[in-house]
Amino acid sequence: MSVNTRTMRNRTLQIGTLTAVVVLLSACGGDPNSPGVEYMPDMYRSPAMEAYLDHGQDPYYFDDAVVKAQRERQSARKPVAGTVPFSMDPAKAAFNFPYPYPNTPDGYEQAGLELKSPIPMIQENVDKGKVLYDRFCLHCHGPKGQGDGAVVKNGNYPQPPAYDGAQLAGLSEGKMFHSLMYGKNVAMGSHAGQLDREERWLVVQYVKYLQAGGRMPSGGNTGMAAAAPVDTLNAQ
Ligand code: HEC
Repeated sequence: MSVNTRTMRNRTLQIGTLTAVVVLLSACGGDPNSPGVEYMPDMYRSPAMEAYLDHGQDPYYFDDAVVKAQRERQSARKPVAGTVPFSMDPAKAAFNFPYPYPNTPDGYEQAGLELKSPIPMIQENVDKGKVLYDRFCLHCHGPKGQGDGAVVKNGNYPQPPAYDGAQLAGLSEGKMFHSLMYGKNVAMGSHAGQLDREERWLVVQYVKYLQAGGRMPSGGNTGMAAAAPVDTLNAQ
């Protein structure tokens, strides 16, 4: 190996080392909180998304001020008053229309006269109503709607009247729905937050079943002309 080749090698090594040091030093910034220059930051820094904020432009191509302004602007907003959920199925769309009866004694009476279940009174819907009843009503109203649920038996809650007793045996489905919508007096809360309209009508079918003493009420189908089972509990 000639002297010349060795000198060349040493020089290459020196230049290489120098370059590495310069690169390393330049990667550090003055800000102690900054990680400095990062190689492919996307690989270990996934963007953390904040819900309801406008994430705006890609921060790598816009300056911080633009990005910050966009991040502080709200993007998702509440729908305007009167907005109804969209449904492709016209039969289900009807469940989304605004409820026309106000939370007043008159509204209650009117709902009792006019409001009819859009859901046919058939065994399948009663069975679906029972599933909801067991989850949301049974602990107060009891398994057969006698007002003897667990929280009542504990002595911790006022007893609801039996569905087939003197007070409620003649209660119309419209009034049942109205009471589920807004609640009844102080002891029965509104269930509009727990059950959507379709679910409320399904549970009303089951209450009617209990009202008739645990069998299909006579008078048969009070719902739509074509008695089709409601295919899903969680439509909408
Ligand atoms: C926390 C206990 C409680 C729960 C849960 C509850 N209820 Fe009631 N419910 C009552 C009481 C108490 C009354 C009697 C209210 C009154 O007339 O003052 C009542 C009354 C009713 C009435 C009669 C309303 C009227 O217009 O007179 C119906 C129908 C009814 N409940 C159905 C239901 C259904 C269906 C559920 C489940 C989705 C349910 N309740 C859940 C306690 C409850």
